[in-house]
Amino acid sequence: MPLTHRSTLTQFLIEERRRFPGASGDFNALILDVAIACKAIARAVAFGELGGFLGNHAVDEGGSVNVQGETQKKLDVLSNDVFIRRTEWAGNLAGMASEEMELPYQIPGQFPRGKYLLVFDPLDGSSNIDVNVSVGSIFSVLRVAKEVEISGRDVVEADFLQPGSQQVAAGYALYGPTTMLILTVGDGVNGFTLDPNLGEFMLTHPLIRVPEDTHEFAINASNSRFWEAPVKRYVDECLAGKTGPRGKDFNTRWIASMVAEAHRILMRGGVFMYPRDTKDAAKPGRLRLLYEANPMGFIMEQAGGRASTGETPMMSVQPTSLHQRIGLVFGSKNEVERIERYHAEPAPKESIEPLFTPRSLFRD
Ligand code: AHG
Ligand code: MN
Ligand code: MN
Repeated sequence: MPLTHRSTLTQFLIEERRRFPGASGDFNALILDVAIACKAIARAVAFGELGGFLGNHAVDEGGSVNVQGETQKKLDVLSNDVFIRRTEWAGNLAGMASEEMELPYQIPGQFPRGKYLLVFDPLDGSSNIDVNVSVGSIFSVLRVAKEVEISGRDVVEADFLQPGSQQVAAGYALYGPTTMLILTVGDGVNGFTLDPNLGEFMLTHPLIRVPEDTHEFAINASNSRFWEAPVKRYVDECLAGKTGPRGKDFNTRWIASMVAEAHRILMRGGVFMYPRDTKDAAKPGRLRLLYEANPMGFIMEQAGGRASTGETPMMSVQPTSLHQRIGLVFGSKNEVERIERYHAEPAPKESIEPLFTPRSLFRD
C-alpha cells in the first residue's frame, strides 16, 4: 500500500502555517495534542469489554451523573481526563471547558498558560458505547481575550461565551470502523484517517463539500409529539414522499451519535435535526451550544453546508451559559434553508394533512 503520497496531519498543519509567517506554532501544537488525545480515546474504545472501560462510572469513584443530570459512562470520564492530560501541559491554553465538568478547568500552576480556550465533548454518543456502535469526540478552539492572555488569570464562564463565528478551529474524531479526524481551521474542511500501522492521521479527504441537496434526514421521531409546527411540517412533507409536495422519496437515519450522523452528512449529504421542542421547558433542545452545535456548525458551514437553530444561523448565537442547550439543524444547505423558511413563514393553510383525511387522495 503506497503510504508516501499522503500528507500526515503534522505535515498538513505545517504547510497551512506557512501561509502565516508570523504564527507562533502554538496553534499547531495544540491541534497535534488534541489529535493524540483522540488516538488514545480510539484505543480505549477499540478494546471494548476487554479494556474494562464499559458501563457506568461508579458512584464510589466520584459520582455517576454529570452537570447535565446525565449518567456518566466510565469512558466519558476517561476521555475527559485524556483530553485534559494531553493538552494542559504545553502552554497553549488559557483554560478548558467540557461537557463533563460543571466549571471551567484551570491550567494547573506548574504549567504555563497560553492564548487559546479548548471546549470539548470528550465522548459524544456515549449511550452507544456499550453496544459497540460508533462514538466520537468534538472540539472547538477559541481565542481568549487579550487581557486574560496577558494577565494569565484564571478563566471564568464569561470568557467562553463567544459566538460560533469566533471559533479559530473545530473538529471531531469519529471512532468507527476506522478512526477519522475531521478538522477546520476556517479554510475548508479536511478529513484524516488514522493509519493503524503508522499511528498517524493521514489526509484522505481534502476539502470536503456537503452536497447541497439530499433525500435523507435524521431526527429522533419518538419526540414528534413535542415538535414545533415548522419541524412537523418539514418531516410530514418528507414522509409524504413522491406523491407529496416534495415530489421525491426520503430515507431516515438515526444513530444517536451526532458525530456519526454528521460524518455521514459530510460524506454524502443529509439533514440532522435535534430541534427545540416542548418536551421539557427547562431544556430548549437536547444538544449543547458550545461543544456540540458550534463546532459542528462551523464544520458544516466550512464544507458548504449550513447550521441553524431553525430561526437563527448557529454561528451568530450569543451564548449565555457554558452548558446551554439549543435546537440544532444542520447539513445540506438547501434543506436547512427550507427548514429556516418554514420557521419564518406562517404555517400554510393547505398542509400535508389532506392526504390522510376523508378528503384525501385515497378516498373513493
Ligand atoms: P452525549 O453522549 O455527548 O451526551 O451526546 C449524545 C447526543 C448526540 O450524540 C445524539 O445525537 C443525541 O444525544 C441522541 O439523543 P437521543 O437519545 O434523544 O436519541
Ligand atoms: Mn455529545
Ligand atoms: Mn458526551
